[in-house]
Amino acid sequence: MNPAQPKLLTGDRPTGRLHLGHFFGSLQSRVHLQDQHHSFILIADVQALTDNFHHPEKVSQNVLEVLKDNLAVGLSPEKCTFVLQSQVPEIAELTVFFSNLVTVSRLQQNPTVRHEIRQKQALFGESVTYGFLGYPISQAADITVFQAEVVPVGEDQLPIIEQTRELVRTFNRHYGEVLKEPRALLSSHSRIKGLDGQQKMGKSLGNAIFLADSSADTEKKVMQAVTDPHKIRKNDPGRPDICTVYTYHALFQPDHLQTVYQECNSGTRGCVMCKRELAACINAALQPIREHRSQLDEQESTLIEMLLDHTEVARSTSRETLKATRKGMHLLLPRGPGSI
Ligand code: TRP
Ligand code: SF4
Repeated sequence: MNPAQPKLLTGDRPTGRLHLGHFFGSLQSRVHLQDQHHSFILIADVQALTDNFHHPEKVSQNVLEVLKDNLAVGLSPEKCTFVLQSQVPEIAELTVFFSNLVTVSRLQQNPTVRHEIRQKQALFGESVTYGFLGYPISQAADITVFQAEVVPVGEDQLPIIEQTRELVRTFNRHYGEVLKEPRALLSSHSRIKGLDGQQKMGKSLGNAIFLADSSADTEKKVMQAVTDPHKIRKNDPGRPDICTVYTYHALFQPDHLQTVYQECNSGTRGCVMCKRELAACINAALQPIREHRSQLDEQESTLIEMLLDHTEVARSTSRETLKATRKGMHLLLPRGPGSI
């Protein structure tokens, strides 16, 4: 790890294994970015509890799964610092300090949080928890406690980074230039649709291919994916533009895409064959990841040790930040005659 490189921080909530949506949305670009950045990869178990407070075992069981997924796609423990959020008390402390600098109405206006609260009606009903409403504040602490400069995120997380930047400016105005203002690095890849044609592939939506799925499971899922509903017989001409399977071809075999389009459109390609071909492409792409991952399955105790060691290294930075923060906030008593 090179201290001269810009610091980058990103992370995942460990609420389930990672899938192709994460692969195209964030993991792939993390792998590229790790060569030019000092990368912190946060496993945000405390944040995961904001909407899983009633299922703590689900969160703890997924910490290692998410770590394995990150390693299996090619993130290197030599280049990245993996951080387990719950083991960094400085994040919680900074969150408390930040909470004075943001109003409740500003939190209620955050488009990301608004959208998520609407999605979680079943959990929150009419009244959202303080912890969930405030998660952008603790996320701001995740980022700034390590003095991260770059935060790669999807478009849906942009308002959170904007709020972090606001908080940093407010903090520094009141307490001196202590914190770094980070910038978002928008991931360039478009979002992958769910197999059911929904806009988003989601852990809990039942429409995802997980990195750890077997090749048989992957094939089974692909065979059930939605296509052009009007293409019923093999020789019916189809409309790739409205077909979910086609969007996957675009990602997994871009060089072959025109052929897929023409054959579908002219009625010479049947959906069954088209899906089989896609499943084979996905399986070929996932094979090395699965092999790596199954090796990691054998090394769980080493992985736990590595995660805790890395977290401890990261804490040297978070402790420094908190020292400067407390000083800026006049929370250290001056020593000398007359002081307590
Ligand atoms: N909110 C992110 C997600 O839902 C996870 C996360 C927690 C994060 N802390 C972060 C992302 C800090 C970037 C930076 O996936
Ligand atoms: Fe979709 Fe392929 Fe069927 Fe065309 S042939 S509708 S691209 S699955």
